[in-house]
Amino acid sequence: MRASMSESWAATGEGSTMTVSVFVGTSVDGFIARPNDDLDFLPPGGGEPHGYDEFIARVDAIVIGRKTFEKVLTLGPWPYADKRVVVLCSRPLDVSAAGGGVVEQMAGPPTEIVSQLAARGAHHLYVDGGITIQGFLRAGLIQRLMITRVPVLIGEGVPLFGTLPRDIRLRHVATRHYPSGLVQSEYQVAA
Ligand SMILES: NC(=O)c1ccc[n+]([C@@H]2O[C@H](COP(=O)([O-])OP(=O)(O)OC[C@H]3O[C@@H](n4cnc5c(N)ncnc54)[C@H](OP(=O)(O)O)[C@@H]3O)[C@@H](O)[C@H]2O)c1
Repeated sequence: MRASMSESWAATGEGSTMTVSVFVGTSVDGFIARPNDDLDFLPPGGGEPHGYDEFIARVDAIVIGRKTFEKVLTLGPWPYADKRVVVLCSRPLDVSAAGGGVVEQMAGPPTEIVSQLAARGAHHLYVDGGITIQGFLRAGLIQRLMITRVPVLIGEGVPLFGTLPRDIRLRHVATRHYPSGLVQSEYQVAA
């Protein structure tokens, strides 16, 4: 399974141009958190290995929404090591709580954020947080979606997807399933 993912990533040609990816876990009914931001329906510790380590090793910078940043701070030690993290927030935000992390704040249209990070040498961005992903999708900036569905229905919560100005066609790259019931589908956004 890992081998097949490496091949598909290589096929994107990342390195020469900017690739913006999503790697996210959802309930089968499409929620990334409960209404109160609880993540207790996700497998503890991220569950069995399902490609996250390989994915994040290929990322130059992580772009997260302010709400995801605030949640991550409650989960324990800063999880992104020395990977560059950009927190999006429209108001001044104290990012020092991230401890030893390499964290900065940005704001503005997703297109400008991608342009600024590209100008600083990033080739592969990982965008996370529901509202944030939706903004980048609406702006046509996402190329890759890796969605891992956890076998549970939670009925309500923070949705992964939202409204769109037009359909976004996806090309199915691969679907993998894991013994615990995780089902991961990888899509490429059609040009
Ligand atoms: N299951 C998973 O894999 C997964 C992954 C990530 C997150 N989560 C969970 O999802 C929840 C958070 O998701 P969410 O959809 O509520 O919010 P989010 O996307 O994390 O954060 C949204 C906020 O980010 C800021 N923002 C986004 N785009 C911006 C832009 N272009 N410019 C300026 N600011 C921008 C805004 O903050 P201001 O309103 O302050 O300006 C906005 O309200 C948390 O519970 C988190 O734990 C789950």
